[in-house]
Amino acid sequence: MPDAPRPDNAPPQALIRSEGEPEAPYDGGPPAYDNIRKPWPGRVYDYLTGGGARHSYQSDRAWGRALDKALPWAKNSMQINRRHKVTGTLVLAELGIEQFIDLGCGYPTNRKQEWPDTVPLVRTVHSDARVMYVDVDRYVCAFANTSLATGPGTDFLRADARDVPAMLAAGRLVKLFDLTEPIGVILHDVLPWLGDEEAAQAMGDLHELLPAGSAVSLTHATGDENPAGMEQLVEAYAEAGCDYRPRALDQITELVGPWDLLDPGLQPTSQWAATNRRTSPRSSCPSCASRRTAPTRTPR
Ligand SMILES: C[S@@+](CC[C@H](N)C(=O)[O-])C[C@H]1O[C@@H](n2cnc3c(N)ncnc32)[C@H](O)[C@@H]1O
Repeated sequence: MPDAPRPDNAPPQALIRSEGEPEAPYDGGPPAYDNIRKPWPGRVYDYLTGGGARHSYQSDRAWGRALDKALPWAKNSMQINRRHKVTGTLVLAELGIEQFIDLGCGYPTNRKQEWPDTVPLVRTVHSDARVMYVDVDRYVCAFANTSLATGPGTDFLRADARDVPAMLAAGRLVKLFDLTEPIGVILHDVLPWLGDEEAAQAMGDLHELLPAGSAVSLTHATGDENPAGMEQLVEAYAEAGCDYRPRALDQITELVGPWDLLDPGLQPTSQWAATNRRTSPRSSCPSCASRRTAPTRTPR
């Protein structure tokens, strides 16, 4: 049965337990996701990738429908990104990595058969794999707490990709992980929400601070294939009050600079397929080339 739409005046029922974790820092004013009368990208993304009305508000759904009408490729692109989580995550698990940070995890998917969540995915490779779900949005964390991090070896953390050292030092993470062993980071469609310096800092800090053998699976929006369309998307987000920063291929290449790219390197997400995969992707990708992805690995 479909979930009832969330009424505009109702906050999420599941509020996160903070257990001493610091609130993520903000530079000024309340975070925009608290304003449920305005669309918020995380909720719109969830709505357009099959989330229905479970995590979204009327403002998100109205804006999402208008976006889908004006720029239908955008939803396609979001779904390709969502689907790539299966591939990107399994690639990291098949490197032998057994502990994962799903950084900017977003809302739990409603399409679990097609796009399993991170825990069941990595546990197809390592039955004891541990997963920390991380997001800066406390509503996402509320759902991560109640729907994603529900069993042993899993947890959620409210943290900011702009402060990787704080994330890696958080008590919950230190408790869950062995910080001398490699960690896989799933970083899909998060860097476009960060400024240029913040994104570079995040990638540099991950490289610097993660244990040897760690790896990142990255997806990042680009306007290289469809500059006019992407400009329209950026404008649509700007009108909704959100900064979205697709980057050119050379900028994304710079972001992954400190990392060793795994084959086949930076590719449109719909076309990315590891050459050494044991497990086949679970669904085919419609053609859409607005994102690129680069699973990477430390050189050590
Ligand atoms: C478009 S969703 C992508 C969700 C998921 N990674 C996926 O690819 O399906 C972007 C997510 O990144 C989160 N996010 C944005 N900025 C962040 C930051 N500075 N730190 C942590 N998470 C962030 C948002 O709250 C949102 O849940």
